[in-house]
Amino acid sequence: RGLLPADADEFQALRAMVEIGAELSATLDSERLIYRILQICLDLTHSEACSLILIGEQGNDLYFKGAIGARAEEVRQVRFPFDEHSVAGYSIKHRKSMRINDVDADPRHNKDVDKAVDFRTRSLLAVPVLWQGEPLGVLEAVNNLKNRSYTETDQKYLELLASQAAVALSNSVLVGRLQNFFHEAVDLLVDILESTDLISRSHLVEVARFVAEMGRYLGLSEPEMERLVYAGLLHDLGKTRVKNPDDPAHALIGGEILSRFRIFSDIAPIVRHHHERYDGTGFPEGLRGEQIPRLARMLALSEAWVEELAQEGPEGRSKVMDSIRSRIGTWFDPSLRQAFEYATEVLHRGLPQATEASAHLSALLTSRQQELSGDALD
Ligand SMILES: [Fe+2]
Ligand SMILES: [Fe+2]
Repeated sequence: RGLLPADADEFQALRAMVEIGAELSATLDSERLIYRILQICLDLTHSEACSLILIGEQGNDLYFKGAIGARAEEVRQVRFPFDEHSVAGYSIKHRKSMRINDVDADPRHNKDVDKAVDFRTRSLLAVPVLWQGEPLGVLEAVNNLKNRSYTETDQKYLELLASQAAVALSNSVLVGRLQNFFHEAVDLLVDILESTDLISRSHLVEVARFVAEMGRYLGLSEPEMERLVYAGLLHDLGKTRVKNPDDPAHALIGGEILSRFRIFSDIAPIVRHHHERYDGTGFPEGLRGEQIPRLARMLALSEAWVEELAQEGPEGRSKVMDSIRSRIGTWFDPSLRQAFEYATEVLHRGLPQATEASAHLSALLTSRQQELSGDALD
């Protein structure tokens, strides 16, 4: 046999595998990848249904991470014990592919799942999903519709797909860990900044909250909202490295510190340019208009508002309002006027909305806010 596939089926299989491999390296969206893997499983093995079954968090049961084909919706609600009394459990425990073409004659088939979703399993192919030798779950194909039974080739296809499912799953674990690392790093930096007494936590949180309201008004995407809020929380990082905290060099320095960390690289430019002015008279580069990153223009306006309001106190609110308005068009981007007015109004009336932009953001801001009100009571 040569390198070329022998028949059309094999050619289709090969193409599907290459496709999945390319998708795996192009995206970290594991939900989508799993769906694609199951789709290919269904096509290649001519099955009535395919599913990815994983070991539950406690390690004592199995659940359907994804399912496609007959009864897909219903089966996603099902959990069953992780033991040897099911083909899935047996396959995982023994790290062994199972090809069963007469399910009724095999005592290992767990009939409870069939019963729960009103389905009849006749033939079954199960392949363990292993990552670095550790089992994560099992990939199953059920009821071969073409030949009524599964072949060795079907098993090989499923084994290839199972190894790709393992990569997709481990990617999602890594992404989760990275996100957690990112959030912890932001929290830690905010703590450190506060402990220097150069910047108050309330200043950082208020700037982040205000700019988030502007972002929501402007309909920014979720990733942009996150960048904006984290830039808001970290915008004064550079103040730890300047002699006079009013020195605008803190923007440049803060941007440089952040750009050294890959996880903060897309926040760095926002921080770096948050003291630029729309008319080009700002710092550090004297950029003007659209040359200044949009999120940095938003941050500039937000910081000025929060800072000046803190100086004047609540009675000085309309004075600060007028003062900021008078600089829109010179210091500040005129296209942000309405977003600014909206944010002042919403926060004044105590109706913040943008904190809903993401679960973490909300948790971060509210826990900060609670700590703040706790501080105020002391
Ligand atoms: Fe600031
Ligand atoms: Fe600043």
